[in-house]
Amino acid sequence: MEFKIEWFDKLASTNTTARELFLTHTALPSGTIIAAREQTAGRGRHDRKWLTAPHSNLCFSLLICTEAELTAIPSLTMAAALAVNDLLHSMGVRSSLKWPNDVLVGERKICGILSERIESRGLIIGVGLNVNMSVEEARAIDRPASSILIETGETTDVAPLLVALLPHLAYWINAWKKDQFSSLREAWTLQAGPLGKPLTVRDGDLKKSGTLAGFGDHGELLLNTAAGIETIWSGDVC
Ligand code: BTN
Repeated sequence: MEFKIEWFDKLASTNTTARELFLTHTALPSGTIIAAREQTAGRGRHDRKWLTAPHSNLCFSLLICTEAELTAIPSLTMAAALAVNDLLHSMGVRSSLKWPNDVLVGERKICGILSERIESRGLIIGVGLNVNMSVEEARAIDRPASSILIETGETTDVAPLLVALLPHLAYWINAWKKDQFSSLREAWTLQAGPLGKPLTVRDGDLKKSGTLAGFGDHGELLLNTAAGIETIWSGDVC
């Protein structure tokens, strides 16, 4: 898989720009990456904002052209989370995964991913990785957060970090192309487990508690509840 990175000084949201470019340039190749040194209106999952200081953290969107079935799409995003997790491990950060696609250190979020399908022919995978966020900046966020700086004590140049992520993205996206979630299951379960751990999943006003029974054929969460195994397609683990 080949990548082409386009850096912008300032964008509202790399996901929005990637989407616009995809819709206006019919020949925009799969593997195009739109990255921003500053993002002024970053978007998170569930209509949340993604706040990030300029020039400090990694914000980019990767375009994948795919006509895969809708059910196969969530696991493509999970492949990207595995790639970020591998990169962090290579830097000595002891990160793990939280379904559906967060990367955490302990209970603190270090990376969030927002994927957006475009017209059943493309997927924009938007990645926000906290790189040089300070302890003070992390404390100002309304949820527990961490960064590479907080975990390693070292600042990291954001542009070379994105280049270092590419082989990991290529590895996991190629794995996904072979057998979709089946190719990711073992690594994903290892990083998001252990099986049997207590979990509560919230989807809007709906809240379900149980223990982790595993992941279904497409990466959906299997929750062992008093009523039996429930299949969860979307939501937030809390
Ligand atoms: C989440 O809620 O955890 C997902 C956050 C995703 C943030 C990234 S930053 C780059 C890309 N552009 C956006 O507007 N959002 C994503």
